[in-house]
This record gives sequence, C-alpha cells and structure tokens, in this order.
Amino acid sequence: MRKPLIAGNWKMNTTLEEAKSLVRAILNELDGIEGVEKVLCPPFISLVAIKELLRGTSVELGAQNMYFEDKGAYTGEISPIMLADLCDFVILGHSERRQYFFETDEIVNKKVKKAFEIGLKPIMCVGESLKDNETGKTEHVITNRVRAGLAGISPTGQLVIAYEPIWAIGTGKAATGKQAEVTIGLIRNIVAGLWNRETAVAVRILYGGSVTSTNIAEFIAEPDIDGALVGGASLKANEFLSILKQTAKLKSTR
Ligand code: PGA
Repeated sequence: MRKPLIAGNWKMNTTLEEAKSLVRAILNELDGIEGVEKVLCPPFISLVAIKELLRGTSVELGAQNMYFEDKGAYTGEISPIMLADLCDFVILGHSERRQYFFETDEIVNKKVKKAFEIGLKPIMCVGESLKDNETGKTEHVITNRVRAGLAGISPTGQLVIAYEPIWAIGTGKAATGKQAEVTIGLIRNIVAGLWNRETAVAVRILYGGSVTSTNIAEFIAEPDIDGALVGGASLKANEFLSILKQTAKLKSTR
C-alpha cells in the first residue's frame, strides 16, 4: 500500500513573516491528520524558520529546487548539502523551472541523482504542453521525460513523481481524474519498464495542476493517483486543510 502524499508548493510567494503565519494557521489541524504524508515547500529563505515550527510534528519540509553541485562558484544557487539536514523532499524539474529557467531533462536528471546521493527524496515533475496534448503527443513527451529524468538511477521506491500537465498549472483548468489516471498509469508502466514492476508499484505518483478542495476527491478516487502537488490552493489555510482531510478520508476507505 502506498501512503498518499500531499505537498504544498508555495512557489515565489510569502515573505518570512507571511510564511510563518501560514504555518501557524494550519499546523494544529495539519499535524492531527493521519494516513497522509504532509509536505510543505516554502521559499528557500523561510526553510530554517519553518523547520523550527515543524519540529516535533508529523509535517515534513521540502525545497522547491536545488543545484546539482555540492559547493563552489555558482552565484545565487542553493546546494544539496545546504538542504540535506533541513529538508526531507525537494521538488525537481517543475515546469516553471523548465520554462523560465531553461532546465533540460539532462539537468533534471543530474539533480535527481544528486538528491538521492545526499538523502533527499525528489519529487520529479513531468508534464506536457497544451500543444503536445492537443496533437496527441502526451505519451511520447511523458515517456521521454521520465526516461531521461531517471537515466542512470538505481531503482528505488523513494522516488516521487508529479504528473503536472503544463496547461493545468495555475490556470484553473485541471485535468479530469480520468485523464490524470491514464497518464499516471502510463508513467507507472514506464518506471516498470525502466526499473521493475515491484519498484514501480512502490513509487508514488502525484497529480498537480489547479488542484483545489473542490476537485481533489476526483483525483484521489483513482487507484494510481497517490496524492497531489498543490500550488495556489496551498497558500490558503482552509483550502489546504480541506484537501488533506479529504485525501485522508478517501484513501482510508478505499
Ligand atoms: P497550481 O500549481 O496548483 O497553482 O496549478 C501546481 C504546481 O505548479 O505544482
């Protein structure tokens, strides 16, 4: 049985004070929700303070990105070593990184490798553009991204993949549960082909893209969908709590 996982990706939102307030607003209730792995991914500058607030709770911390070198002359970058003692997870290859910061599959692969090496659990994001989707290229694009992202990496059930169709991110136009289930099933088969079925069954695969308290149930109801990577809705305390509570309830009754 895979434990469902809900991760809040705050992106480039919240000052340090706002981040602390948001955590305080959700922490009491969040900590009490059982049967779901709960991960918060605030901006880098808030990680240390949020780590303190989460100490002794069941809520884990994730970073939104990292570089693949340990240290050196890479102005403005954050190294895996800096994150190793601070975070449990790291989001890698988010489509916004690929689109605005020109991250290629090769870079994402180096980062995923490094994350495992240093003991961070990567949430590797893959997704297709609207054009790819409309021209029937989803399977092709996703297959290439997953294979390239995992090239040279030994099989491990610690991997988390987030399927995030680019056209659904921040647009309010989520995929349907059925659409997401088809592609997530495909991703699991790709992992099984690349590694083996046993590991593929252990890998958690999330859906991401305009997830809210209104549509989360539709995704969670699907057998291959193991949770969600939540952007906008994770910045609203009530929304995020509702997403978590529904996930806990639905997955425990399945
Ligand atoms: P969204 O973002 O929920 O705001 O669409 C999801 C993501 O980019 O991870």
